[in-house]
Amino acid sequence: AAAKPGYIIGFSQCTNGDAWRLAMLAGMQKELSFYPEVTFRMKDAHNSSALQEKHIREFLQEGINLLIVSANEAEPVTPIVEEAYNRGIPVVILDRRTTSKLYTAYVGGNNEEVGRTAGNYVANLLRRQGRVLEILGAPGSSPAVDRHRGFAQALTAYPGLKLVGELNSNWERPSVLAGLPSVLKAQQDIDLIFAHNDRLALGAYQVCKQLGLEQRIKIVGVDGLPGAHGGIQLVQDGIINATLLYSPGGEEAIRMAMKILRKQPYEKENILSTMVIDSTNVLTMKLQTEKLASQQQDIQRQQELLRKQRDTYASQQTVLYVLAAA
Ligand code: FRU
Repeated sequence: AAAKPGYIIGFSQCTNGDAWRLAMLAGMQKELSFYPEVTFRMKDAHNSSALQEKHIREFLQEGINLLIVSANEAEPVTPIVEEAYNRGIPVVILDRRTTSKLYTAYVGGNNEEVGRTAGNYVANLLRRQGRVLEILGAPGSSPAVDRHRGFAQALTAYPGLKLVGELNSNWERPSVLAGLPSVLKAQQDIDLIFAHNDRLALGAYQVCKQLGLEQRIKIVGVDGLPGAHGGIQLVQDGIINATLLYSPGGEEAIRMAMKILRKQPYEKENILSTMVIDSTNVLTMKLQTEKLASQQQDIQRQQELLRKQRDTYASQQTVLYVLAAA
């Protein structure tokens, strides 16, 4: 059989240091196992836009056939992504966007919609009356900007709801543990905290608990990851009231990359849908994600079996050749 053309996919990841990113990578690796002709290289920018720029430049020098990028901050990472695109390298933007339209395809959630959905849910939860604090993701990252825009916009429809404070973060819990206590000490009458991800939401809960406010203040997060410390578990345990599903999209990104590389038809905007996970549906979500995980394990075992059979077959072939030559 003719060898399939080989491809190199370079993945510039803003950070690989949290469960959501690891789930993304696991999804990519799972999908990549179907394409043995692909060499996959990831560079982890550790939340640094300067490092990410350097990584993408390195990819361009080393030679890649397609770039997948999750931009740490939209603006500083835009010029180098545009450069890659202008050099004819297809670019798949995954989750965090640049500020530019120069890319081949986007895969990820609609973060404005995530914010809007959160806003409308919060209005319902608070019966259209209350004081809300927002904990934003890292300034300049597109999901933080878009989630905030959608959330604030949704709240304008409810005159009884007031967005009384905004706290910036770096997407990680320690920044909430450091910044939130003084905010809550100054404003004890906050009814709800909308945090831009579930790690921040957990941090908010811990601070509320320290201050004896955990019964009073409701918390809504984003991501809804399955697993031991994921958002689904936080909702089930009553630590947060709800989370907005935001899928990591690793499988979808690789599938998209392969369509582009194989010159098959594809859409430019590929939006992964969101939904509210709260006490009314958390059990269903949990059972479903557990089922998925166990099916995933079955697939891995089958792949393992196939590999072994292939090895056995290859060694039998060798024996045949040797016998034939004798
Ligand atoms: C993971 C993460 C998620 C968040 C996403 C936004 O690194 O912080 O928690 O939803 O990035 O890009």
